[in-house]
Amino acid sequence: MGKLDGKVALVTGSGRGIGQAIAMKLASEGARLVINDLDADPAHETVELLRKNGADAVACVGNVTAPDFAERFISTAMRTYQGIDIIVNNAGYTWDDVIQKMTDEQWHAIIDCHMTAPFRILRAAYPHIKALHAADKEAGRDVYRKIVNISSTSGLNGNAGQMNYSSAKAGVIGMTRALSREWGRLNVNVNCVAFGLIHTRMTVADEKGGATVSIEGRDIRVGVNPDRLKSAAQRIPLGRGGTTEDAAGGVYLFCSPESNYISGQVIAVAGGPQ
Ligand SMILES: NC(=O)c1ccc[n+]([C@@H]2O[C@H](COP(=O)([O-])OP(=O)(O)OC[C@H]3O[C@@H](n4cnc5c(N)ncnc54)[C@H](O)[C@@H]3O)[C@@H](O)[C@H]2O)c1
Repeated sequence: MGKLDGKVALVTGSGRGIGQAIAMKLASEGARLVINDLDADPAHETVELLRKNGADAVACVGNVTAPDFAERFISTAMRTYQGIDIIVNNAGYTWDDVIQKMTDEQWHAIIDCHMTAPFRILRAAYPHIKALHAADKEAGRDVYRKIVNISSTSGLNGNAGQMNYSSAKAGVIGMTRALSREWGRLNVNVNCVAFGLIHTRMTVADEKGGATVSIEGRDIRVGVNPDRLKSAAQRIPLGRGGTTEDAAGGVYLFCSPESNYISGQVIAVAGGPQ
């Protein structure tokens, strides 16, 4: 018996990195998954990995910022599994510059991905969650649904060179607190996990400073200078950056039945206070 047996979980940006680890963790507890990624191959690879491990999974490939994405994502879950129990708003990336160099395009791209997309996904989920909750109530079932929004210590503390990202990740916290007040009556726990340094392609050691990934057709700089990475790890109370499994563990806490009376909260999964 898993703690999430039969639950339907939707995870954005789950083709790689933290999102993939979240999907694997939720599936290991019995959840059925809707996998999303901007990039088709990683999304399908995650679906295959989940199926190999005996889980049910379906892909909904696409950019979370596309205006029609939210409806497509939510209807994939409803069509495939006739339910929605967990939504993890994880898709994201950084596009850094100091304020004097940051363009409007950079600002809007990051706000759209980290704030507008989760807003639209949650808005599209509303009528279904309302109807599912009404049906549960009618049948005398006490079911809690879970929203986990992904923030960052940059959203909690601010970070130089990340005015767009810090603002968006702080906005996600406001969104979490507001929605926890709106959806409590629907038995939905709305919480937020703010990651510190987690080892993924975004934070890979990059000595020469030339590493990029392609996001929405743009080459986005990724990676961290190895010396900066080492000193960042030394400042972490637990003495190391996190693994994607560490990150997924924090998200799982807010998806588990043990969090049924916790809502509107932010936990930092960052190896200690920063
Ligand atoms: N890695 C860290 O140290 C760290 C720290 C704090 C917060 N975060 C947050 O964690 C989340 C996951 O990051 P990660 O480190 O696993 O990155 P990652 O690049 O390893 O994985 C992110 C995935 O999201 C997908 N994605 C990006 N933009 C998308 C879009 N517009 N639509 C659909 N999919 C999209 C990417 O293709 C990728 O597969 C992000 O929200 C990030 O801001 C990461």
